[in-house]
Amino acid sequence: MNTNPIVPSSAGAARLDTATTPGDSGCGSPSPLHQGRGWGEGSLSGSRAEDRPAGSGPASGSRRAFLARLGLGAALFAVPGAFAEELARKTPWVEEGPFYPPKLPLDTDNDLLIVNDSITPAVGEVTHLSGRVLDKRGDPIRNAAVEIWSVDSHGIYLADSSNRGQYDSHFQGFGRFLTGSTGEYYFRTLRPVAYPGRRAPHIHFKLKLKGRDPWTTQLFVKGEPGNAQDGLWRGIGDEQARALVTVDFVPVKASRLGELAARFDIVLDITPAA
Ligand SMILES: [Fe+2]
Repeated sequence: MNTNPIVPSSAGAARLDTATTPGDSGCGSPSPLHQGRGWGEGSLSGSRAEDRPAGSGPASGSRRAFLARLGLGAALFAVPGAFAEELARKTPWVEEGPFYPPKLPLDTDNDLLIVNDSITPAVGEVTHLSGRVLDKRGDPIRNAAVEIWSVDSHGIYLADSSNRGQYDSHFQGFGRFLTGSTGEYYFRTLRPVAYPGRRAPHIHFKLKLKGRDPWTTQLFVKGEPGNAQDGLWRGIGDEQARALVTVDFVPVKASRLGELAARFDIVLDITPAA
């Protein structure tokens, strides 16, 4: 278990009817970089990015500097009013699918590329995935537990017991992050790949807020030819709705290793308490 989160140094959204079509059965039915401490299974009482002492843990040094160059600057997040137009559209709900881990792994932090204290990272295209959780007025939601899970580079889920032998044991496969006052979340993970049954690469999200039912969606990769062949993606409302869950995975200019960055704000149908 990593004990310190890695966070970007400057860290500070509609219902979709289930739409399963033949050939898309994989997910068609039934559920800062290390933010691990305090996240016991089933618990939402984790530490927040903003609670971390500056320079502590793996976030310090070159990695922190690198993250700072990703463009995850405060300016991107500090003007909720400027996004009022966009926020008129809530993030589409997309079904959970069958591969939410029935038993959470020991390591559930927000760096999915390193399991526990391993020095061997997962194989695949490294992706810095970030965004904010917002209410329908565009204000950040604090204490939202953001959970993600996705396949390894071979297209296999952590929870796919029938293919466990082929699973990349260095890929955490699942991670979670508790938002602070900015509503920001951050994960280091892999660019998803297609797998049998799902032609559109995607990352599953589940959001948990106290007193509310868990809410799920899926994030898709802009420009993927498999999207148009994926029943779930096609079933997401209209073109505008699909666009809300389909984002660019862009090369990070500062990276010599071909790392990617993806930005996904999640707007929930929630009106803040007065
Ligand atoms: Fe899936």
